[in-house]
Amino acid sequence: MSGKLQGKIAIVTGGLSGIGDAIAKRMAAEGATVIAADLATEATTLGDGDLVPFHVDVADATSVAKLVDAVTARYGRLDCMVNSAGIGKDIPFLETPLETFDKIIAVNLRGSFVVGQAAARAMRDAGGGVIVNIASVSGMTGNVGRTAYGASKGGVVLLSRVMAVDLAQYNIRVNVLAPGPVDTPLVAQMHTPEIRQRWIEQTPMRRYASPDEMAGAVVFLCSADASYITGHVLAADGGFLGSGLTVAPI
Ligand SMILES: NC(=O)c1ccc[n+]([C@@H]2O[C@H](COP(=O)([O-])OP(=O)(O)OC[C@H]3O[C@@H](n4cnc5c(N)ncnc54)[C@H](O)[C@@H]3O)[C@@H](O)[C@H]2O)c1
Repeated sequence: MSGKLQGKIAIVTGGLSGIGDAIAKRMAAEGATVIAADLATEATTLGDGDLVPFHVDVADATSVAKLVDAVTARYGRLDCMVNSAGIGKDIPFLETPLETFDKIIAVNLRGSFVVGQAAARAMRDAGGGVIVNIASVSGMTGNVGRTAYGASKGGVVLLSRVMAVDLAQYNIRVNVLAPGPVDTPLVAQMHTPEIRQRWIEQTPMRRYASPDEMAGAVVFLCSADASYITGHVLAADGGFLGSGLTVAPI
C-alpha cells in the first residue's frame, strides 16, 4: 500500500462486517488509525492499534455522540467518517409493515444524518475532514421489493449532496459510494438464488463484487487525490446503472 491515508484518524460505522470491514482494513493498510464502530461489538473503550473496535448504534444519537467524543478525546481530531452501517429487506410494497419501513429509515437514513452531523461538528472544530456515505444503486433506481431500502438510500444520496453544499465552507467534503451487488452477510440474507440470478443477468460485468472492490474507491474519496471532489455519487456497480435494454454481449 502507498500510505494514501498516513496519519489520518478514521471511523468506519458498520466496520466489523462486509463492505465496512473491507474498508476499515484497507484504510488501516493505507496508514490510517481506524475505529471500526459497530453494533456487533461490546467495546466501549478505545484500545491500542490501527484497527480498533468500538460499540455504536447509529440509530441512537447518544451512542453516536459517545463514539465521536471518545475518538476526539483520544486522538485529538477526526479526519474521515465512513458510514457503512446499514440494514435491508426485500419485501413487496403492499406487504411492507410500517415498523419495517421505520426501522430501515431509522438506521440507514436517520443514522446517516446523526453520524454525519456528529462527525461534521468535530471536523469543523478541527479545520476540515471527509465524510463518505455508503448508499446503493437501489437508492438511484427502482429495484423491486425495495420500498424502504431504496427510499432510505435515495435519501442518503440527497442528504449527502446537501451536506456537501452546507459543509464546503468548513473544508469538509461529503461523497457517496453507491455499490451494486456485493457478496456480504447482508446479501446472503437478502438475496434468494432467484434474486441473485437476476442481479447477475442485469449487471454487465455478470458477477457480484467482493467487499474489497469497494474499499479502494472509498480510500480514493478520502484521500488527497479527491481534494476537489464533493457532492459526488460514485457507483461501483459492474456497469448496472449504465446498462440499457440488454446487457449480454452480442
Ligand atoms: N452488499 C451489497 O450488495 C450492498 C449493495 C449496496 C449497498 N450496500 C450497503 O453497504 C453497507 C454495508 O452493507 P454490507 O453488505 O457490508 O452489510 P453487512 O450486514 O455485512 O454489514 C453491515 C454492518 O452494519 C452493522 N450495523 C447494522 N445496524 C447497525 C446500527 N444500527 N449501528 C451500527 N452498526 C450497525 C452490522 O452489525 C454489520 O456489521 C450498507 O449500508 C448496505 O446498505 C450493500
